[in-house]
Amino acid sequence: MGFPVIRNRRLRGSAAVRNLVRETQLTVHDLIYPLFAVPGTGIKHEIPSMPGVFHLSLDLLDAELDEIVKLGIQGVLLFGVPEHKDETGTSACHDHGIVQEATRHIKKRYPQLLVIADTCLCQFTSHGHCGVVKFNDALQQAEVANDESLELLAETAVSQARAGADIIAPSNMMDGFVHAIRTALDEAGYTHVPIMSYSVKYASAFYGPFRDAAHSAPQFGDRRTYQMDPANAREALREAEADVIEGADFLMVKPALAYMDIIRTLKEHFDLPVVAYNVSAEYSMVKAAAANGWINEKSIVLEMLTGMKRAGADIILTYFAKDVARWLRDTE
Ligand code: PBG
Repeated sequence: MGFPVIRNRRLRGSAAVRNLVRETQLTVHDLIYPLFAVPGTGIKHEIPSMPGVFHLSLDLLDAELDEIVKLGIQGVLLFGVPEHKDETGTSACHDHGIVQEATRHIKKRYPQLLVIADTCLCQFTSHGHCGVVKFNDALQQAEVANDESLELLAETAVSQARAGADIIAPSNMMDGFVHAIRTALDEAGYTHVPIMSYSVKYASAFYGPFRDAAHSAPQFGDRRTYQMDPANAREALREAEADVIEGADFLMVKPALAYMDIIRTLKEHFDLPVVAYNVSAEYSMVKAAAANGWINEKSIVLEMLTGMKRAGADIILTYFAKDVARWLRDTE
């Protein structure tokens, strides 16, 4: 042969060699499992569009927590679905609100399990928006009032920290939310509580099943005025940069699958840990296809999550966390 042939295949010859040269390793420590807590007792409702994911009252949460801890999963992302909703989402910041109660419950049973509290109003407002809605006289239409929302969100974050949350995860996308929450936490003495910011959150159809789960679909309009346009990538840098300046400790990209380029971009531009949210429809689509026997669920999921890590994610929030933990354990 007149030219050098580069034979990469010798690197793929045996399993041991493949293990040696593997660039990306998915481990159970990468995974965070989302939980949906509801008030009441004896409640374990499967979310129809998310098979295997449940609404759980605190008394039935324990079995789930035991399983999570036994599998080696180190953290949960905690959502609350309250009984009563109102215009301003007041129960979000109650010291005895569902997220606060669930946080105390979890930390009492498993002090070492990280509780990452979702800080948003959309599960708590009757209109389903992530902030307070006001009528804008100049525009002659209802809109989400950014600055009024910030006060409530900051109060919510402080009450979550007071309940013992280890990390605050604001998902509301109001302008200035990281700064508002950081300042409030610091003033209340929670300087040690980090913020995992949903920095780059697209207005996405991939949240459909979650909105069924959280009963949080907007009752009018949509979230396009405060979530990002899926067509934009450079704007993601601006969103993330604002969060870095305001004091975020983690940067999240959401959804994950259709936004791998954004994960990579954030990884290259910033030195904070990058979090990928493998959202509800990314889960439900796989579950539906697997239930039909059309795909091999385990291979598909491991490939998807490995892809997210390869793209640059340090942490993956995923409804598959328990499945993946089991698969990784069984192949060791
Ligand atoms: C809103 C919130 C949403 C998700 C997490 N937090 C939905 C939304 O913006 O409508 C979606 C998560 C998922 O789809 O798994 N606070």
